[in-house]
Amino acid sequence: MADESSWVIRHARLATMSGAQAAAGDAPLGLIEDGALAIEDGHIAWLGADAELPAAWHERTRTQSTGSINAKGMLLAPGLIDPHTHLLFAGDRSGEHAQRLAGASYLEIAARGGGIRATVRAVRDASDEQLVRSMQERLARLVAGGVTTVECKSGYGLSVEAELRSLRLIRDAARGAGCDVVPTLLGLHAVPENVARENWIRAVIEELTPEAARQGLARGCDAFCEQGAFTADECAAALDAGAHAGLVPHLHADQLTAGGGAQLAARWKCASADHLERTDLAGAEAMAQADCVATLLPLAAWTLREKQPAQAPLFFRAGATVALASNINPGTQRIEGVSMLLAAACLLAGFSPAQALWACTRGAARALRLGDRGRLAPGLRADLVLFGCSSADHLAWHAGVEHARWVMRGGAPVLDRLHDEPLHCAP
Ligand code: NIG
Repeated sequence: MADESSWVIRHARLATMSGAQAAAGDAPLGLIEDGALAIEDGHIAWLGADAELPAAWHERTRTQSTGSINAKGMLLAPGLIDPHTHLLFAGDRSGEHAQRLAGASYLEIAARGGGIRATVRAVRDASDEQLVRSMQERLARLVAGGVTTVECKSGYGLSVEAELRSLRLIRDAARGAGCDVVPTLLGLHAVPENVARENWIRAVIEELTPEAARQGLARGCDAFCEQGAFTADECAAALDAGAHAGLVPHLHADQLTAGGGAQLAARWKCASADHLERTDLAGAEAMAQADCVATLLPLAAWTLREKQPAQAPLFFRAGATVALASNINPGTQRIEGVSMLLAAACLLAGFSPAQALWACTRGAARALRLGDRGRLAPGLRADLVLFGCSSADHLAWHAGVEHARWVMRGGAPVLDRLHDEPLHCAP
């Protein structure tokens, strides 16, 4: 991989993401046709029409060690951001999928010893090395799809020590990965076996949250607000502790039942509320008012054969920002692949292809409160993906293969498949 500290990419269709997300057609993408983009010291230094590339950059590509790429009309977008995953896990719960296909419910599977607690046992039995290596393999597959930032939750430790271990291993797995990993403490994921509910909630609030923050192991905190998981009051107490410790709050909300999760997330000033299959317009409006991003997870809705996947247009109508995430996890969503996420977003969740790509970049950056990425603009981080096709339409249509041809993270190339045949380059 080239190690130049400056780069110029020419003749690309630049998807700057400067448009309004809810707009029609390609408008959300803020396209610059036949564009150029210059990168220096890890940041975007200039972008605009190729014909207007400043003379100094032409000169630099001739005389200095400035990398140069002719994109030949391919789509150049901000590096993708996956704002909701559970990537650190061990064990194989494919049998639960088969049980679900045969009609078993979430609660029945849990009663048979499956569900979150099955992964908790597997994680406890796995070595640090196994957990780190398997997470790194998952990260590498995401990078191959053009992802440069990934959020990752704990939540399969379920003791103070085991949750801190998970967060440490998430940090270790991030070292040497081709993407940034944003760690989130998910203490209220399930009640541990053989522990009284109130004791676990107290431990999360009084010990785990402050300790994870003190050690710098978590940037965000999250809770699973759902019947059979945690009540609104319990989640509110955990989010309050997280905010007090300086963590960015998120909430698993309204997934299986309408529990007022969207309103709670808005009241607790969560950066995002995620899932939202049962959220109504009033909930979406509360989120919009509070600048709480709606993070939709259509691959999980598909896996769970959800009859009412959350619909992006509801949140657009309310004026909310919408993000998309893979929700890769060991139990309810194992489809790995950016193109599959874009396809599911359009087929199941009411997005247009351009709105979906915006949700995977600018929307996801907002969901994680990362102001330095998610768009193409001077001064922002040079997190970029050059696709082997020229349109968002093609990305969302031609699923099951990854279209990323060249990926840059913070100014350093992390994937180079430029010599592969473009998959589709007609404008
Ligand atoms: O986001 N909803 C809670 N957590 C995961 C599923 C976890 C599991 O079943 O292991 C989710 O879907």
